[in-house]
Amino acid sequence: MIWAKKLTDIQPFYVMEVLRRAKELVAQGRDIVRLEVGEPNFSTPQPIIKAAHQALDEDQTNYTLAQGSLPLRKKIAQWYDKQYGVDVSEERIIITSGTSGAFMLAFGIILNPGDRFAISDPGYPCYKNMIRLLGGDPVQIPVGPDSHYQLNASLLAPELKKGLRGGLITSPSNPTGTLIPDQAFAQVVDLIHDGGGVVVSDEIYHGITYGKSAKTALEFSDRAIVINGFSKYFAMTGWRLGWMIVPDDAIRAVEMLQQNLFISASTIAQHAAMAAFDCTDNFDKQLKQYDKNRVFLIEALQKLGFEISVEPMGAFYIYANIANLLTQFGIKDSQIFCEKLLEEAGVAVTPGLDFGSFAAGEHLRFSYATDFARIEEGVLRIAKFLG
Ligand SMILES: Cc1ncc(COP(=O)(O)O)c(C=O)c1O
Repeated sequence: MIWAKKLTDIQPFYVMEVLRRAKELVAQGRDIVRLEVGEPNFSTPQPIIKAAHQALDEDQTNYTLAQGSLPLRKKIAQWYDKQYGVDVSEERIIITSGTSGAFMLAFGIILNPGDRFAISDPGYPCYKNMIRLLGGDPVQIPVGPDSHYQLNASLLAPELKKGLRGGLITSPSNPTGTLIPDQAFAQVVDLIHDGGGVVVSDEIYHGITYGKSAKTALEFSDRAIVINGFSKYFAMTGWRLGWMIVPDDAIRAVEMLQQNLFISASTIAQHAAMAAFDCTDNFDKQLKQYDKNRVFLIEALQKLGFEISVEPMGAFYIYANIANLLTQFGIKDSQIFCEKLLEEAGVAVTPGLDFGSFAAGEHLRFSYATDFARIEEGVLRIAKFLG
């Protein structure tokens, strides 16, 4: 069987392949330090699980409205008021199947065939594949330390001249853990809107910041499409629940697409999430743990010769340049470095190749969403591996 031609443009999510190999090695009895996973290492807090049990006991097993349950949308609206001082009506909030579901809806309502849409390189790998699947043309703009690995107005301007349907900001970013400076964020939003384009802001790592908190695009414009969810700060990856906030004139279009593509998000997960906003003490405690891991790992990696040019101040990732180490050890690129590190030292990390093509062969992503003791062990093994 020959499947759709467009699949030739879709690339695998390499981290899932590293994950598969790491699991194979674990099954063979090897102890692997897992620094490749992009999810919190602690389970969903009990009050959320209890709320799910209660929903099941009450037979809450039917579809919800396509936009999602009204009480949950009201909670999210309150969250925006409390966290950002932004007034969002629940009408503009749509509950989705993870942020991944929200991206399908967002790109679905934005893109016409061939539309160019700007994303950063490096960036979260699924964006470009979803844009392609929906007929768009992802414009991957190389970003480096000088712009905090984020898009800014001067990087976007030349592409806007060639025609852009819009652009996407992810702050804090996966894979770099960096935040877009406030002024750059405001300028990007203005520039894209002035050119008649659409701004999409992936805010899935909001809440996981060390020091300064991240701004929502809604603080700059209520025309932006904001995407967020319960996977990261709220530690609910497997519940598959997210949300999006759209401008008034997009509500109906998103609702129609949701009806056709997903009908609604999981009802049980929506009931469970009602309890999530009361568990912030648990999440903030975990944040302290991440921060301890972050500070330790940055310093340890730098001592071992990994270059980290911009301090990652959010998410749970460190994006390190290994150009010097590759030369020193005669290793061709970061993918081979990752394979060797996994097979020989038992440490799983993600190669830069997963996140784009710009200097990808010289970079690795470390995730520190794990126990401190495992990170210490990982560092010892990397040190030994490097001799
Ligand atoms: C930047 C970014 N956006 C979106 C997602 C998808 O998250 P969800 O579990 O909400 O679909 C991820 C997952 O790793 C991510 O890193």
